[in-house]
Amino acid sequence: MPTLKFAVLAGDYIGPEVMAEALRVLETVARQENLQLAPVPADVGGLAIDRHGEALPASTLKVCAASDAILFGSVGGPKWEKLPPAQQPERAALLPLRRHFTLFANIRPGLLYAELKDASPLKSERIPNGIDIVCIRELTGGIYFGQPKSTTMLPDDDVEAIDTMVYRKSEIERIAAAAVAAARSRGKKLCSIDKANVLETSVLWRKTITAYVAAHAPEVALSHMYVDNAAMQLVRDPNQFDVFVTENMFGDILSDEMAVVCGSLGMLSSASLGAGRNSHRLPFGLYEPAGGTAPDIAGRDLANPCAQILSAALMLRYSFGLEKAAARIEAAVKRAVVSGTRTADIAFGGKSVGTRAMTDAVLSQLNS
Ligand code: IPM
Ligand code: MG
Repeated sequence: MPTLKFAVLAGDYIGPEVMAEALRVLETVARQENLQLAPVPADVGGLAIDRHGEALPASTLKVCAASDAILFGSVGGPKWEKLPPAQQPERAALLPLRRHFTLFANIRPGLLYAELKDASPLKSERIPNGIDIVCIRELTGGIYFGQPKSTTMLPDDDVEAIDTMVYRKSEIERIAAAAVAAARSRGKKLCSIDKANVLETSVLWRKTITAYVAAHAPEVALSHMYVDNAAMQLVRDPNQFDVFVTENMFGDILSDEMAVVCGSLGMLSSASLGAGRNSHRLPFGLYEPAGGTAPDIAGRDLANPCAQILSAALMLRYSFGLEKAAARIEAAVKRAVVSGTRTADIAFGGKSVGTRAMTDAVLSQLNS
């Protein structure tokens, strides 16, 4: 019986609530598919600041390093907002995790079921069948991590801050490989987004992606788009994309834009895959919902657990190679939602259920 050893970093506010529901779903699937679950909880985010004095304590990193994947909830909230930016839970937990495990390939599905298209701010005639696209964001390079990065007091009393956008060809090639894999699993269409009319890194990006696809995936139809235009095209006609790939900061911005056109953050999952292999000889990865900690609804059985449940499905797919189990969870979530069981964020003012009842509906679909 395969053993699935993963770290459970639930985090703050609604993080632990939705994590508990994802674990219930995983337990059901494990029973049905004969899998042994070995979840190991560890503190992260604001909770870890309160208990250990830092958002990502060494003890948590150790738990992660001894696991095959990380199932992550969400971190941060008003309680820690007054800390200096570099110590705030989001930045002080997520960025070092990405860095430590070289989680360079961030996969963010932009999925909106046709039945939920009224949740999108876009006119429904623009998205007659909902939305189904994928953002692949480079996650460990570019301006987030490039050196030098500094703030200096100048002799004339002015202050200067510097961030540096750096990419190596090898970093672009490995994200190209991840993007090609995603494109192959879908419509074999890939759009690479850059700012090659201005940035040196983008010129290298475009050249490298073009050469990679020509050499390794000639069957994939590659196109290129400038990032400012891409921001426009995403709201004009999101489904013109199938898979798009872009550098770290552009991906940060475009993936939020994609999330809002997809209606509810409560439905969006993500995977961040590492360069290393786990004990299943598959990518080590971190799996987290797109939304945040939602302090306003925490502790009230109101949060939508679907994004966390779908993130657990991605973990089964990418870090444990359990495609069938992953697809079963995704289908169960879809059937539960489409058949009318909805948390308030996707109920359009109609009848809504709580976090646990939403999960119960997913479980009953899994059992049927
Ligand atoms: C994200 C977030 C993070 C990022 C923050 C919390 C550091 O916005 O995952 O998109 O900028 O990457
Ligand atoms: Mg972001």
